Amino acid sequence: MTLQEMAQTHAAAFTRSRPWTAEEFSDLLNNPFTQAIGDARCFALIKVIADEAELLTIATHPDHQRQGLARECMTAWHLAAQSQGATRAFLDVAADNHPAIALYQACHYSACGRRKAYYRRKNGPNVDAIVMECALDRP
Ligand SMILES: CC(C)(COP(=O)(O)OP(=O)(O)OC[C@H]1O[C@@H](n2cnc3c(N)ncnc32)[C@H](O)[C@@H]1OP(=O)(O)O)[C@@H](O)C(=O)NCCC(=O)NCCS
Repeated sequence: MTLQEMAQTHAAAFTRSRPWTAEEFSDLLNNPFTQAIGDARCFALIKVIADEAELLTIATHPDHQRQGLARECMTAWHLAAQSQGATRAFLDVAADNHPAIALYQACHYSACGRRKAYYRRKNGPNVDAIVMECALDRP
């Protein structure tokens, strides 16, 4: 998967917020703690530091949504993070992003905090972020 493919999939999936550019993906992946999992249809960007993993973004291209790809990608990055020593995973999600919240709940995440007006929208007011966490050490 190239940086351009990541940016294209991200832009196609994120219609209500500013998509990330290939340069931004490049900068993020230059950080030794950051890695990409998946392919151009669906990918996640994660950061693993010691026993904590963080999901920076996940996107499925609209042509491939509702085929189980994000669920597979979540499992794949959880396993990768676990193999690197992570025991807990965190993410944040816009409070109005019901598909993503449903995905994370299906992957055993629960809410552990809220950031007021965290996400900017192209049109309309800012939206709260819900912080979610999940234990990675279940059998
Ligand atoms: C959220 C997103 C990554 C899900 O990708 P996907 O590949 O379509 O998801 P999956 O097919 O693996 O779905 C897994 C589960 O998530 C939930 N889900 C996914 N899309 C959903 C939707 N549109 N409505 C309700 N639930 C949804 C369901 O529980 C689903 O299980 P089911 O199909 O058995 O009902 C995708 O919609 C997307 O890219 N959205 C835009 C980007 C985004 O919001 N990313 C998350 C930012 S925090």
